[in-house]
Amino acid sequence: MISSRPPSAPQPRSPFPSATPAKPAPAVLESLAHGASVRLAGVRRAFKGGVVAIDGVNLEVGLGEFVALLGPSGCGKSTLLRLVAGLDQPDEGAVEVVGGGVAFVFQDAHLLPWRTVLENVALPLELAGIRAGDRLAEARAAIDEVGLGDASGRRPAELSGGMRMRVSLARALVTRPRLLLLDEPFAALDELTRHRLDDQLRALWLAQGMTVLFVTHSITEAAYLAQRAIVFSSRPARTVADVPVDLGRERGPAIRTEASFARATRVLFDALEQAGA
Ligand SMILES: Nc1ncnc2c1ncn2[C@@H]1O[C@H](COP(=O)(O)OP(=O)(O)O)[C@@H](O)[C@H]1O
Ligand SMILES: [Mg+2]
Repeated sequence: MISSRPPSAPQPRSPFPSATPAKPAPAVLESLAHGASVRLAGVRRAFKGGVVAIDGVNLEVGLGEFVALLGPSGCGKSTLLRLVAGLDQPDEGAVEVVGGGVAFVFQDAHLLPWRTVLENVALPLELAGIRAGDRLAEARAAIDEVGLGDASGRRPAELSGGMRMRVSLARALVTRPRLLLLDEPFAALDELTRHRLDDQLRALWLAQGMTVLFVTHSITEAAYLAQRAIVFSSRPARTVADVPVDLGRERGPAIRTEASFARATRVLFDALEQAGA
C-alpha cells in the first residue's frame, strides 16, 4: 500500500531540507541520501469514545535513518505509523514528511490470492498507470532483491508465511520508496524465519538507503535492526526514551550472542520497564 502526505497537512517550520520555494533542498543532500525525513510535533490522536492513542509526541527522523518504534501492545504505535503514512490525521500537532515516496508493510502480507507473486508485486505500479513491460521488469527486480526469483510464478497459497512476507516487502520496494514504514511485519513468523527477514531487511536498507520506521514490540528485534530506538509508554503513547543502538552498520547473526547486543537490549528493556510497559 502506498500513500503520500496529503497536501492539506500543516506545514510547521522544519529543520530538514524542504521542497518549498523558500528553502529549496540542497542538491548535495539529495544526492547523498535516498531517504525522506520525518517530523512530528506535539501530535495527539484521540478516537471517538475517549481513547487517547497518542499524546504530545515529538519525533524527528533524518534522511536514511533506520529507527525502531518500540512499545507495548496497544500503546499507539500503529496509530503513529498511520499518521506518518498520511492514512490518518492528528487531532493536534503536525506531521511532516519531506522527500515523499512512502510505502507501508503491514503485519499481514495482504496479497491477492488469485494473482501470482509477479502480479502481486507489480500491483502498485499497475495502479500508478505504469505500462506492462516496465512494471513487470521493475517487479522482477524487486522480487530478485528479496530472493524470490524462483517463486515469481506461484500464487500466495503456494508460499510459506516468510515467503509471503517477502512478497509484501518486494511490493513495497517496487515503488522505490524513500520512506519505508513497517508495522510489526515479521511478528507472526517463527523465530528463525524472522531472523532471516531481519537480515534481509537490513541488507536492503544498507543497499538502498531509504529511511525506515519499524514498529515492533520486540526488544531484541529493535536492537538488532535499528540505528536508533524510540521507546513509547503504554497508552497514550509518549516518548520515554530515544537511544542510539551502537552496534555498527554491518550486523549478522553472530552479534545476537555478543555482550554489546545484550547491553543494547538491556537499555531498551529498562526503558520499557520505566515506561510501565
Ligand atoms: N480507529 C480506531 N478507533 C478507536 N480506537 C482505536 C482506533 N485505532 C486504534 N484504536 C485504539 O487506540 C489504541 C492504540 O492502538 P494501536 O495504535 O493499534 O496500538 P499498537 O499498535 O501500539 O498496538 C488502542 O487502545 C486501540 O484500541
Ligand atoms: Mg499495532
